Order: sequence, then structure tokens, then C-alpha cells
Amino acid sequence: MNVLVTGGTGYIGSHTVVELLAGGHTATIIDNLSNSSELVVDRIEQITGKQPNLHIFDLQDKNKLAEVFKKESFDAVIHFAGLKAVGESTQKPLAYYRTNIDSSLSLLEVMEEYGIPTLIFSSSATVYGSAPIPYSETSVVGQGITNPYGQTKYMIEQIIRDVGAANAALQFTILRYFNPVGAHPSGLIGEDPKGIPNNLMPYLSQVASGKRKVLSIYGSDYKTIDGTAARDYIHVVDLAKGHIAALMNKHTGTETYNLGSGKSTTVLELVNAFSEGTGQAVSYELAERRAGDLPEYYADAKKAEKELDWKTNKTIADICKDTWNWQSRNPNGYSS
Ligand code: WQD
Repeated sequence: MNVLVTGGTGYIGSHTVVELLAGGHTATIIDNLSNSSELVVDRIEQITGKQPNLHIFDLQDKNKLAEVFKKESFDAVIHFAGLKAVGESTQKPLAYYRTNIDSSLSLLEVMEEYGIPTLIFSSSATVYGSAPIPYSETSVVGQGITNPYGQTKYMIEQIIRDVGAANAALQFTILRYFNPVGAHPSGLIGEDPKGIPNNLMPYLSQVASGKRKVLSIYGSDYKTIDGTAARDYIHVVDLAKGHIAALMNKHTGTETYNLGSGKSTTVLELVNAFSEGTGQAVSYELAERRAGDLPEYYADAKKAEKELDWKTNKTIADICKDTWNWQSRNPNGYSS
């Protein structure tokens, strides 16, 4: 298939492009490089022996977008592009609503104009907000979302469902990611956060590499097995493969799938697994809870297994090994 990947030089996008190319598909990336590097394309070529096309512009530029659709004949679109920093979204809500929603609207309009029926959208478990755990696709969504980033994912899901319902020829898939971590086993692509990382895994690996002094573990009085918060960590390569499985799945209307492992791992368990698996000491301190954090959530991942024939294969040990391989080979991300 000829697939357009928006945000394809980003963390999850780049791993998905690798899986597309490795699976014999062709990929065209549109990315404004606001949180990624052009170098990613060469790295993808080193891994797969194939180069994706890269167009550098902002998805909100509908004229440029239409030009690309006019030149290429896409079979499907995978839509990753968007702003994704939870904390920043509370400081700059308008930027988040404008960027994420506007670009999704432009994309859907141009897809409609050119008659492209298949869309896979990168959503997040954050839409479940305060729903009971484990989160299942039938759980209530939209209640207790704590930040504008999460709201944009929820709103775009709704837009996609409405557009999908208006035309029986469309085939839309919403994928709700749990906590994506890890890196490609080659160590050539991985997560490259700008500045001080907000998320656990990049922070932890930067402490291990000596770039940061100490990891603050936010909260040690949660009702979990060791008091630290628990999440469903999913290896980014498993996650990328979930997109290929979704692409191959024929259905009508809009389908939604959780992409998670179905397992819950605490912060302390992850820190210990990292030290044991890599031999790198990670110094940490117990700190106050972080505002907006939930004590625990994980996926009910049965629907994707049943309907997409997809489940995670990689373990927490693989996640730690591959994260460290990426971090130690690229101490300053793509600028090293
Ligand atoms: C995991 C756990 C922290 C940093 C967020 C978004 C979600 C999705 C993925 C995508 C929590 C703890 C963290 C640190 C810590 N977004 N922690 N010390 O918050 O589960 O999910 O990222 O784009 O929508 O909400 O992920 O990695 O930030 O935190 O103790 O320095 O690690 O408190 O319990 P989170 P995270």
C-alpha cells in the first residue's frame, strides 16, 4: 500500500514507517520537524534499505497538503502529527487546540476531496480519564481528562467518528496507546525529547547515562504493590506493528482499539528492571505526587488480539535493553 504518514519523523511515527517499509509498503511523510529531526529519514534508510519521501511543512497548510495528495495516490493515511506534551498543553491550550484540531480537520477534508477512505488515528489512553481499570474500548471516555492535550485527542476521536458515520465507504481506525517506551533494537531511532524530559523512561535513561543527576519518583503512597504509580508500558516496535495490523484489517465505519500490553508495571519495578537489565545504576529519590497523575491504569487488550491478531511480544526487559542501547549510542538524541 502507498501510505501517507503525518508526523512520520516523530518517535512513534518513525518506528511505524520502518514497519511499513519492512512490510513492502511505501511511505510518504509529512512533518514540520517541530519536535523531530530530518536525520530520521537516513536512519530509517539504514534500517530498512529504503527511503521514505519526506515533505517538510505544517499540516495546517491545506494547499500544500492538497498538492501532495494530487501528486501521489495514497491508499491510506496514518495520522500522528500533533503537539503532545501534557504539561505544555496546560500552559498553551490555544496552541494545542489550534494545532491538533485544525490539522486533523485539514487532513480529513483533503482525504475526502481525494476520495481516500482509510485513516488510522493516533489516540491515547488519556481519553479514558477517570474510567475504572482496566480500560476497555467500551469504557466511558471523556470524563476526568485533566489537560488540553488529552481533550484534543478526545475531540479528534469524536470528529473522526462523525465523519466516519456520514459515509459508509470510509474505514477509520482509532488506536489508543498506553505508555509507549523503548526504541528500535538497532539503536538507530528512538525517543528524542527536547530539553528536560517529562516522561519517565527518557528521564530514567538520562539519569543512567549521567546526563541527569537523580530521578524523582512522583508519589510513593499510592495503593499499588510498592506505593509507586503503575502504567501499561508498551514497546514502541510492538506499537508500530499494531498500526500495520490495523491497516490490514478490513471493516466498515470507525473501529477503536487499545494498544497496550494489558500488564501494569510500577515506577519502582521499571527502575529496578532497568538497573538489572542494563547494569546501570539509576539514582532516585521519592518525591511528592505529580499533579494530574492517576495511581494506576492499564489496557484490556483483548479486542486488538481478537480482531487484529495483534498483541505485544516484547517484555519490560526488552524495553529496558533497547532504551539503553538507543540512549548510550545517541546521548544527545539525533544531535549527537
Ligand atoms: C509515568 C509514571 C509519573 C517522570 C503521559 C501522558 C499520556 C501519554 C504518555 C503521550 C507516572 C512517573 C514520571 C518522572 C516519575 N502521552 N514519573 N518521575 O503521565 O502516564 O502518561 O505520557 O503523548 O497521555 O499523560 O507518563 O512517563 O510521564 O509517567 O515518577 O520523572 O512515571 O508520575 O506515574 P504518563 P509518564
